[in-house]
Amino acid sequence: MKHYLVVGGTGMLSEVVCKLVNEGNKVTVIARNQSRLDQLQNQCHYPELFNGLSLDYEDFEKLQHAMRTKENNVGDIDCVVAWIHSNESEALSIIIDEMATKETFDVYHVLGSRSNLLEVKMGLDIPSNCKYHQVKLGFIVQNNSARWLTNKEISGGVLHALDNEEAVSIVGVLEPWEMRP
Ligand SMILES: NC(=O)c1ccc[n+]([C@@H]2O[C@H](COP(=O)([O-])OP(=O)(O)OC[C@H]3O[C@@H](n4cnc5c(N)ncnc54)[C@H](OP(=O)(O)O)[C@@H]3O)[C@@H](O)[C@H]2O)c1
Repeated sequence: MKHYLVVGGTGMLSEVVCKLVNEGNKVTVIARNQSRLDQLQNQCHYPELFNGLSLDYEDFEKLQHAMRTKENNVGDIDCVVAWIHSNESEALSIIIDEMATKETFDVYHVLGSRSNLLEVKMGLDIPSNCKYHQVKLGFIVQNNSARWLTNKEISGGVLHALDNEEAVSIVGVLEPWEMRP
């Protein structure tokens, strides 16, 4: 049993959250909307393993406070899955900083198709106890036309990345770029 923190877990990553809970892991989820957190908790087989934190991760003081609140057991988080837009990476930096005392932990940073992976990584101060992974979302090309990934495909890709522990993984494709929807 691991403890996961899924930031932005009530949207396209809902299936990731449910799968992790249903496998018997403890999952802390950050999102603003309390009723969507409650809904997701009720969808999981073991709602008692779900810990919803209703907060705006752009409110850095609140985020830091939540990370320091004993009852949230942040100290025992093994793995962070973060769907935080690349221009809001400061929230991820705060989370990583608050985990300084952990021996080791993993971060899976989910990023949009336009993000520059190297720039994003260089913008974060990744300590030696953190194994940092990136999951880049692409698109799907079918019968000469292109479409965005469905939430199911995104969650499936993130779960695959978690299983394979790859440093960088792509969900869907990024080429031909000019076909991007
Ligand atoms: N292929 C690509 O490159 C790509 C990239 C991005 C998106 N997309 C597509 O676009 C769709 C919608 O994207 P989306 O960003 O709306 O994703 P989403 O996963 O549907 O929603 C964002 C998640 O983050 C939470 N969140 C957002 N801002 C927050 C904040 N300031 N503080 C705390 N939690 C916050 C939301 O909950 P609350 O609103 O309750 O806070 C929700 O859980 C996706 O389903 C995907 O198909 C594709």
